[in-house]
Amino acid sequence: MNIRSEIVGCGSYLPERIVTNDELSSKLETTDEWIQSRTGIRQRHLAADGELTSDLALKAAERALEHAGIPATEVDMVVLATTTPDNTFPATATKVQHRLGMINGAAFDIQAVCSGFVYGLAIADNFIKTGQCKTVVLIGAETFSRILDWEDRTTCVLFGDGAGAVVLRASEGDPEANAGEAGHNRGPGILSTHLHSDGATNDLLYVDGGPSSTQTVGHVRMNGREVFRHAVTNLAAIVEEALDANGMSPDDIDWIVPHQANKRILDGTARKLGLPVEKIVITVERHANTSAASIPLALDEAVRDGRIKKGDLVLMEAMGGGLTWGAGLVRW
Ligand code: UT7
Repeated sequence: MNIRSEIVGCGSYLPERIVTNDELSSKLETTDEWIQSRTGIRQRHLAADGELTSDLALKAAERALEHAGIPATEVDMVVLATTTPDNTFPATATKVQHRLGMINGAAFDIQAVCSGFVYGLAIADNFIKTGQCKTVVLIGAETFSRILDWEDRTTCVLFGDGAGAVVLRASEGDPEANAGEAGHNRGPGILSTHLHSDGATNDLLYVDGGPSSTQTVGHVRMNGREVFRHAVTNLAAIVEEALDANGMSPDDIDWIVPHQANKRILDGTARKLGLPVEKIVITVERHANTSAASIPLALDEAVRDGRIKKGDLVLMEAMGGGLTWGAGLVRW
């Protein structure tokens, strides 16, 4: 029996408050023109006082379960990718588990910063493929605004808060559809996931605090130019790795749903791969960089507005602090 993981529902949630570039430039030495021309960002959503990562995550997960038509009692794992948990411990996922009303299995957080959702996709897929889980809720949720230094214009203008989730379910697939021509896998489900990290580049993007080091939460610090350079190279390489593993070429891709850090990174990666920008789902102008939440937020938008359709080949890719990077190739 060949078990595969199918994405059977998605959902997302953005906090109500929208902060424009103009609002930021009234408090900081920056301009709407600089932010838009360097990043493509026009606005971001920020969580209200007292609105926590678990609150955002719960709303996204509830919407994804509703979309899938699956009750929480059937979920046997919650994987929450976040860099901004409610507390150092327990895992924020356990709060979401409780509030969802899930009664089986396990819930835990994972930490791969902006690559968190892709790491979570690999984890969920592997638990399902080995038969240990049947239904997994995978969430990317962040309140990045809480770890920003609001006096550092080189970082604080780039990020936003939000959450997105998917429901993954074990399926035995359709052996005929999966036979495909030239080894191409036509049936729905996750075709492959690919993860990388390089700890030698820890110092390019990090938080200058933590329970074991400073006993403070700390603030985001980034060497933007270097991260940018690594992003275009690593992301183009991971896309090629994912396509090679499945005997596919860039032409086979219907949609790229990338991590949304900077419009220029999205354009640069597309150029390197010879892909038209029209195939990229872009939300960075409205959401800014929501770290682990950015891919499921963009995915939910493109599924609900009908861009992503049954049978489409969807590629998700991300790079973040660590540095970590990864990709997942999914037949919708
Ligand atoms: O999600 C994880 C991955 N993160 C990323 O992928 C982020 C990758 N990096 C980037 O997206 C870009 O490097 C940034 C958007 C962060 C910066 O863009 P850049 O074109 O690399 O600008 P820069 O850092 O080279 O800075 C250019 C100038 C500097 O001034 P000088 O030294 O040339 O006088 C900065 O001080 O822009 C200045 N600057 C700003 N000016 C107005 C930096 N931030 C701002 C700002 N407003 N907010």
